[in-house]
Amino acid sequence: MKRVFSAVLLLAVSAGLLAAAPEEKSPKPQFDAKGQLLRPNDYREWMFLSAGYGMNYSPSPGSHEMFTNVFVQTWAYQKFVNSGKWPEQTTFVIDERDAQSKGSINKTGHFQTDLMGLAVEVKDSTRFPETWAYFGFDADGKTAEAMPKGNGCWSCHEAHAAVEHTFVQFYPTLKPVAKKFGVYDEKREQVTDVK
Ligand code: HEC
Repeated sequence: MKRVFSAVLLLAVSAGLLAAAPEEKSPKPQFDAKGQLLRPNDYREWMFLSAGYGMNYSPSPGSHEMFTNVFVQTWAYQKFVNSGKWPEQTTFVIDERDAQSKGSINKTGHFQTDLMGLAVEVKDSTRFPETWAYFGFDADGKTAEAMPKGNGCWSCHEAHAAVEHTFVQFYPTLKPVAKKFGVYDEKREQVTDVK
């Protein structure tokens, strides 16, 4: 009787251990037959880099201030932390959220509300001749075509992002990592008039 009990206990414990083992998850960008990027649905489970509120760097700023929450796949983040380089198939998502001030018990400051859209950036030198490609999704968009190079995404990131094409100057946990590996371009951090 006691033996049966121990065997059952052992089974239960190992089943529990298996269930608790971290699932091997390394989401990669997915494309449809036309080469359009599929919306990355699980990005809210990725690594969170930082949030901005009403950040603006465009010559004709819009009046609508939003929150921007930046995510990158956890596996790519870990590679960056160990090497200072973004691996192929790294994908960044900016989740753009509307902002509200008065609501519930809140009187001042701002909190996040509805999703307005996603801005996505993928590093893939085999698929894109310029290595980095840019996409925009509506709040409920399912696929997006790569932006033509001339529309400004690529060139602003090329000119002003401190690490490769990424704005690590705005990601407080990655800035010291990039400096440690000597991949942080101080010149690009400097304030300039953005064209
Ligand atoms: C005038 C400069 C400029 C242009 C044009 C621009 N960006 Fe960015 N982008 C930034 C800055 C600055 C950040 C830093 C984070 C933030 O603003 O929230 C950023 C961050 C990002 C990120 C997060 C990862 C990273 O690189 O740091 C994505 C994704 C992104 N932009 C996509 C786009 C897309 C898609 C377009 C074109 C539709 C675009 N960007 C156009 C300046 C620009």
